[in-house]
Amino acid sequence: LKILFLATEVEDLAKTGGLADVAKALPQALTRLGHDVRIVCPFYPQVQERLKEDNHLHSELSLQLGNLQYLYNIHQLHLGDVPVYSVDYPPYFSRQGLYDNGYHAYQDNGERFAFFSMAALQITQSLDFAPDIIHCNDWHTAMAPFFLRNELADNQFFYRTRTLLTLHNAAYQGVFDLDSIPFHQRFISALSSDHMEQGNKINFLKCGLLTADKINAVSPSYAAELLTPLGSHHILSLFQHRHRDFSGILNGCNYDDWNPATDSLLPKAYDQHNLAGKAECKAHLQQYVGLPEQADTPLFGMVSRLTGQKGFHLLLPALQRFLEQNVQVVIIGSGEQELADNLRALEAQYPDKLIFREGYTSKIAHWVQAGADYFLMPSLFEPCGLTQMYSLAYGTPPIVRGVGGLKDTVKPVKSNGSIDDATGFVFSHPEPDALLDLLMQALTLFNDAPEAFKQLQQNGMAYRFCWEETAKNYVSLYHEMLLPAA
Ligand code: ADP
Ligand code: GLC
Repeated sequence: LKILFLATEVEDLAKTGGLADVAKALPQALTRLGHDVRIVCPFYPQVQERLKEDNHLHSELSLQLGNLQYLYNIHQLHLGDVPVYSVDYPPYFSRQGLYDNGYHAYQDNGERFAFFSMAALQITQSLDFAPDIIHCNDWHTAMAPFFLRNELADNQFFYRTRTLLTLHNAAYQGVFDLDSIPFHQRFISALSSDHMEQGNKINFLKCGLLTADKINAVSPSYAAELLTPLGSHHILSLFQHRHRDFSGILNGCNYDDWNPATDSLLPKAYDQHNLAGKAECKAHLQQYVGLPEQADTPLFGMVSRLTGQKGFHLLLPALQRFLEQNVQVVIIGSGEQELADNLRALEAQYPDKLIFREGYTSKIAHWVQAGADYFLMPSLFEPCGLTQMYSLAYGTPPIVRGVGGLKDTVKPVKSNGSIDDATGFVFSHPEPDALLDLLMQALTLFNDAPEAFKQLQQNGMAYRFCWEETAKNYVSLYHEMLLPAA
């Protein structure tokens, strides 16, 4: 199959979260299965840094959107065997942040990503790459199916093309003043109240949900939650309307990048059969962040975007009490300033127990995954979650809330404490006390039952979430989409 994969962040090029991990690993896995996949992403400064030689593919493509005339370039890079076409339009993409300036979302995100989606459709034509599938990801590229259905409805180039919209996080929908976006009149007349919010605002995700041939979420449980009033991010009727074309496909884990036996960022390698190196990783992490170097004190780690989704309003009150125990906690995160301030305040109360590092560094993320004894992820909702898969691979049992992909990837320790095939601790009620109970159970296991704790670690390390399997599931879905045209 020929697959055009649209993503606004790609691991190794530019990244804010798990979408980037997927946008690298899935195209690579599909390529290994023999498909011809091309990624299209914006040309941010971070991408420019990766561009070794100047390899313009096409210079100065021109595109008219509404009354705006764009002239832009395309650069070609490679991620392994996968070609990447990067859309170079400096007024939109030559900024340090991908979506925001660190505090506020860019005002012109609507026109930036509407342009990007349209440019991707133009590039594929200029390269004469007629895709069987255009695989869109989240609201940023959700306008592509809409453009295909409307502006480009008569374009013969796309007559076989089908579109898939993957939902990595449906809480973000891309809602903008319609007046702020340079759309053609023809496009605007195709909009109905179903695509809009009150006050003449367009909702990009709704546009994609209404026009993509198929829709999927990044885990079966998140797909099911989106079809419930509580989990639907306020667009239940739309999901219900499309439920026949809607499925869940669990992400994989990229073990080339996340494997403690081969991870060159770690001070010491280790594996499921010999965990000795993990103790060294813990000592190294304690030293690096300035915590007392104590092998026997359980260390709880977290690597996260700082946002409500990740359950900080459960975690902060739970930690407030949990830190009275003999424990250590290392949190690395970036995002909302208010959460960073709250974490700093707690750190000031327990300076020899809690370390919060604000920032985004891949190296330290690997150190935390390897050096911690437990990994914290008490999310309110979690479409899939990749960090808990990494923590499983690193022998760092996750402590999670049983929602979305967390429910699909972590096998809970039973309430009687027996391990069997468990891989982590799972709680349900979104209450700090429920989390605190679980933290106390995890602490007891670590302190009182080292053999059982080791079994929990090894169960997780033995588990595999293969991208190959995930890619095969996507291929089946692509084929389902093509059938009606055959
Ligand atoms: P989400 O996409 O919702 O943020 P995921 O668990 O799917 O959650 O993916 C998060 C990805 O971003 C992981 O690769 C994780 O290591 C990385 N990450 C998140 N926060 C940070 C951070 N502060 N520093 C380094 N990497 C981070
Ligand atoms: C989103 C979700 C996360 C998921 C990631 C990759 O950022 O928040 O749960 O793992 O996308 O699909």
